[in-house]
Amino acid sequence: MKSRVSVIGLGYMGLPTAIILAENELTVFGYDIDEEKVNKIKKAEPVINEPEIIPRLQSVLDDKEFSVSTKLHEAEYYIISVPTPVDNNKNANLDAVWSATSEVAKILKHGDTVILESTSIVGTTEKLSKKLEETSKLKAGIDFFVGYSPERAIPGNTFYEVVHNNRIIGGINEESSNKIFVLYSKFVRGEISVTDSKTAEMVKLVENSSRDVQIAFSNQVASIAYQQGINPYDLIALANKHPRVNILSPRCGVGGHCIAIDPWFLVEAFPEHTKLLKAAREINDAKPLQVINFVEDFAERYVSTDSYFDTSCFVKTTQDTQYDRPIISSNSAGIVSRDESKNKKTNLLVLGLTFKPDVDDLRESPALEIVEKFSKKEIFNLTISDPNINKSQINKDLQKHFVDNFESALENADIVLVLVGHREFKDFDWSFFPDKKILDFSGLNIKEAVLINNSRLQDQQFC
Ligand SMILES: NC(=O)c1ccc[n+]([C@@H]2O[C@H](COP(=O)([O-])OP(=O)(O)OC[C@H]3O[C@@H](n4cnc5c(N)ncnc54)[C@H](O)[C@@H]3O)[C@@H](O)[C@H]2O)c1
Repeated sequence: MKSRVSVIGLGYMGLPTAIILAENELTVFGYDIDEEKVNKIKKAEPVINEPEIIPRLQSVLDDKEFSVSTKLHEAEYYIISVPTPVDNNKNANLDAVWSATSEVAKILKHGDTVILESTSIVGTTEKLSKKLEETSKLKAGIDFFVGYSPERAIPGNTFYEVVHNNRIIGGINEESSNKIFVLYSKFVRGEISVTDSKTAEMVKLVENSSRDVQIAFSNQVASIAYQQGINPYDLIALANKHPRVNILSPRCGVGGHCIAIDPWFLVEAFPEHTKLLKAAREINDAKPLQVINFVEDFAERYVSTDSYFDTSCFVKTTQDTQYDRPIISSNSAGIVSRDESKNKKTNLLVLGLTFKPDVDDLRESPALEIVEKFSKKEIFNLTISDPNINKSQINKDLQKHFVDNFESALENADIVLVLVGHREFKDFDWSFFPDKKILDFSGLNIKEAVLINNSRLQDQQFC
């Protein structure tokens, strides 16, 4: 008889995992508290933007290997994949994990195995075992088995990565690890490493903290490059020619459900030993405000009455260091004085809202934070566009600014601010609009973009 698995939480990680399990000789029950989501999944309607998901979901539903409900189904394995955000004080909020645990505890029986996949603070799996023991009156590690296995997949490539990435399994004891190993061996093609639950929990947090620190470094490199009128992407590409250097590409901030959150779990637990992690978080969290300051300064100083814009004003000269605003004056290049232009609103087109390229995920998105601030600024006529999302994903205020077709909005834009490196922006021929003032914080290194800063564009907020 096939083993039965209940997957708790059918989001970016849980739903693809459930489908993969159902494709691998397991009977899978999906459980989620979101009734609307459950109803959509039942009809194989999209609830996340993940390549391949709809036909694969339809197929496992048709084969009756997968069913979904707002009620937890009894099974031999329970996989918990619920959200674990931070609260306003940057402390971990594990409410969803505890709520899922109490649902499992009600139906837990001899021989069952519970696997936590949600990113969690160190020690959560042991605490979860104790909670299950209290309610079920069974003994963890003997009557039932518990472990942690962090998910490392990336939205947009989840189906491939859940299967092919290397996996860590950390049971509360050896028997628990063995049980989990048997289940994951059915579909994982990467290497499976077995450890204890605390190590597995910390591995996940350390991995994402490492990414965050590296991104913070690249953002600081960008800051100092801009101060000297150096293109940070070119600078980093050259530095990366060193055989042992691999600097990441700076962006408009760090978003998503992982890197922007997980380091805080370590900072909360080990405040004395995580100064670097905290600094990295603060540097990356400050980036959206820096972008806003850049764009405002740029608009204020260089707004022009026609579409022609003389980028030669960005060539650094020795006099630039004592730049004293406003010095922009009307000239044959079409640059106008601040007095002439002060009543004119700048048409700002912002491209990209998601937290990273080629996904529809807006969680913790720095681009979204930036456009929300711009929407409240009087000096801009704001237009926003993102080929990966539809209007209903953003709030009513922002919907007023949203256009589906970014190309049609380009004509009227004074400034085009590219925040996310979606493939549509990468493939676009920007040379069609030679006079546009393109500011590129996307990492695409659009060659038509103006060099957005030099020593004349001092930014006091810069780290
Ligand atoms: N998204 C990623 O890239 C990623 C990668 C690795 C790890 N993770 C971790 O995986 C976990 C899940 O992340 P996600 O991105 O899939 O989240 P998500 O928000 O996309 O999905 C979570 C789902 O859980 C449901 N849910 C919430 N509380 C519940 C409860 N008590 N019982 C049942 N269902 C409940 C929600 O309705 C939602 O559908 C998080 O801990 C996250 O940090 C995410």
